[in-house]
Amino acid sequence: MIASTSRQRFAAVLLHAGRRKQLQNDHRRYLRVLGIETSCDDTAMAIIDDRRILAHVRRTKLDVTNRVGGVSPYVAAEHHRESIDGVLEECVNRANIRLADLDGIAVTRGPGTVICLKVGMDKALAMCQTYRQRLLPVDHMRSHALTVRFTDASVQYPFLCFLMSGGHCLLTLVKGPEDFLLLGQSVNATSPGEAADKVARHLRLASIPELASTCGGRSIEILAASAPPGGHLKYPMPRGIALQRNCDFDFGQLKSRYLTYLNVHGPVSESALPSFCASYQHSSFKHMATRLQRCIEILDDKRMVPDDRRTLVLSGGVASNSFIRKGLAFVAAKYGYRLVCPPPSLCTDNGVMTAWMGLELLEAKSPTIIERENVPDSLYVFDRVPIGEDISEQFAELRWKVKTKIDLDNIDAFMLPADLPQIRNKANL
Ligand code: KG4
Ligand code: ZN
Repeated sequence: MIASTSRQRFAAVLLHAGRRKQLQNDHRRYLRVLGIETSCDDTAMAIIDDRRILAHVRRTKLDVTNRVGGVSPYVAAEHHRESIDGVLEECVNRANIRLADLDGIAVTRGPGTVICLKVGMDKALAMCQTYRQRLLPVDHMRSHALTVRFTDASVQYPFLCFLMSGGHCLLTLVKGPEDFLLLGQSVNATSPGEAADKVARHLRLASIPELASTCGGRSIEILAASAPPGGHLKYPMPRGIALQRNCDFDFGQLKSRYLTYLNVHGPVSESALPSFCASYQHSSFKHMATRLQRCIEILDDKRMVPDDRRTLVLSGGVASNSFIRKGLAFVAAKYGYRLVCPPPSLCTDNGVMTAWMGLELLEAKSPTIIERENVPDSLYVFDRVPIGEDISEQFAELRWKVKTKIDLDNIDAFMLPADLPQIRNKANL
């Protein structure tokens, strides 16, 4: 009798605990994930609860990057080591949660700078062990692509995604969180972001006080906005670029032709600077646009995108450029595609994209998830990772001639007045 009562009481306690857990789960219906991103020079973290940002912290040293003339892996890794604990503390305080209440910790595993990735990975591993959390290793470029599904729930798989950053230029068909088809990519190691940063350095844009802490691509965008009408055609795209009929990108050639111009003709005068920047930006855009056109036409020919999925997503740091967005939106619309982008602050590297990709991995029950009891003491990180199955060669073999003619020089057709700060003082050029 006594034994049975105590068994009943024990059962009641268990039931109560179960109900409480259930209630807690009901109260917190969504998955909650911490994301850690250290693939390049930003130390970024975020905590999300489904599509809600509970905290989002990012530390950048762009003034240093500009001063030393580019990202130095050693300086960047040192910056991550100095910042990471402070960023974590600020993130957890802002979110006002207990780390033990997370559903997982997502961390960028690659592609990126190995010594920088390692700082984030080591921190994530230590936290998973301390707070008994699952580890969610995340691909950086895939997370750029999926960010849009965090900001816009209407974007469903499959969608066409154009990724443009400081390390990559990729045209992809995204069929699922870990199911990507690669349709076009940079043929030499130069990305649109890196090319713009290099041109901006040659133009010494960081010596303009207002641009001292601004990245090269954005500095070019800001100056281009004050170019006179027709300024974008004054220094046109050099001949001989983008002649191959494929969907690949050659920003290396574009960059070196503009740098050669500068070397031959000497520094650009202050008055010509906006037109030079507008021309470079427009040439970059044209190179992207013609590749995008070919890609869409081939996808249509092969019926690879269902009619109700004609969505083009832009992401990665360069996608925060409003000229490029508007231009590519114009091109996409000609083919019946709608353009959707994350807001500029979530196009450049951030912790939200990492956390969201982790959340998608959890929802998909991905085999890449490392359960609490299996979290190792260390894990490899990767400087290069293929984004998915590469069919760019098959696209190139078609030698596809673009059929739809679009006047890419008439920028008035797609540009609205840009919402950009004005540069008052160019005296330090
Ligand atoms: O995605 P991201 O933040 O880092 C990488 O994963 O590489 O991209 C950084 C790149 C830099 O090269 C920067 O110059 C470029 O994005 N970028 C821009 C703009 N904002 C950032 N390029 C053109 N226009 C912008 N507004
Ligand atoms: Zn990135």
